[in-house]
Amino acid sequence: TCISLIGAPTDIGASVRGASMGPEAMRVAGLQAALEQRGLRVLDQGNLAGPANPDLPAQGGYRHLAQVIAWNQRVHEAVLAELRQDRLPLLLGGDHCLAIGSISAVALHCRERGRRLRVLWLDAHADFNTRELTPSGNMHGMPVACLCGLGPPGLTRLGGGDAPALQPGQLRQLGIRSVDPGEKRLVHEQGLEVYDMRYIDEHGMRHAMEQALLGVDADTHLHLSLDLDFLDPEIAPGVGTPVRGGPNYREAQLCMEMIADSGRLASLDLMELNPALDLRNRSARLAVDLIESLFGKSTLMRPRARAEAG
Ligand code: ARG
Ligand code: MN
Ligand code: MN
Ligand code: MN
Repeated sequence: TCISLIGAPTDIGASVRGASMGPEAMRVAGLQAALEQRGLRVLDQGNLAGPANPDLPAQGGYRHLAQVIAWNQRVHEAVLAELRQDRLPLLLGGDHCLAIGSISAVALHCRERGRRLRVLWLDAHADFNTRELTPSGNMHGMPVACLCGLGPPGLTRLGGGDAPALQPGQLRQLGIRSVDPGEKRLVHEQGLEVYDMRYIDEHGMRHAMEQALLGVDADTHLHLSLDLDFLDPEIAPGVGTPVRGGPNYREAQLCMEMIADSGRLASLDLMELNPALDLRNRSARLAVDLIESLFGKSTLMRPRARAEAG
């Protein structure tokens, strides 16, 4: 595999400024060298460019909609270009609204290649708000809804055509612990498969991940959208919307190692890292550590995970 790093230095969809510095913090934390040490080829494609953050209030339920569309178009094109050259795009955010561009590209690529798609969404938040439901107007609270066709046309049609990029059934959410009241109703209405923190408390990370990966087979493109606020803020303080009670270091490692064991990871978003709120780049270094596990670093050699039954 060749991994392409794509920086998207913007906080255009966030409530708190600073995620625009995420890509550089990941480079400073040694991401490329860590991946190369795993024997992977890495191509740093540098940073995308887009409109500045005008820091304006929401209009018609959306904050910075035009700029969010512009950024997502660029992300979509950049991610699609890497996929078409059979490289593994690693999007360095940037706030989580940019997953619309990234995942719509992945979905289009899967349709072109006739491959199945599974999206793992690791996050404290469901990011399933709409214009009517959002308490903030911040677009990083809406990417999952947009990908499922609920949102403004400039964001629901990035891949061309008018079918939604994703069906709810292709998605699994993990680590969720903050959902707004209206958003909660929509999550149930649309039938999202959510392994929230209560589920993880009761059944453990191993079982939650087994469930989330069920049905992922040799023909599946696995996409991971990792919002760093998935992690407990005690270990990852560098995020704009922290929520206490997230997975600890060992649970996060297990999660990454189980994804690695699936052997199907084909694209990745690393989102919401906010160096302005971090402590000596600790959260970026943790992210590099987790990404190493995601690409197969483990303490000992292990027998390959048993093949899916059926
Ligand atoms: N639910 C809140 C909102 O819609 C917070 C969303 C946070 N999203 C994120 N990607 N950090 O404003
Ligand atoms: Mn989040
Ligand atoms: Mn089990
Ligand atoms: Mn998110």
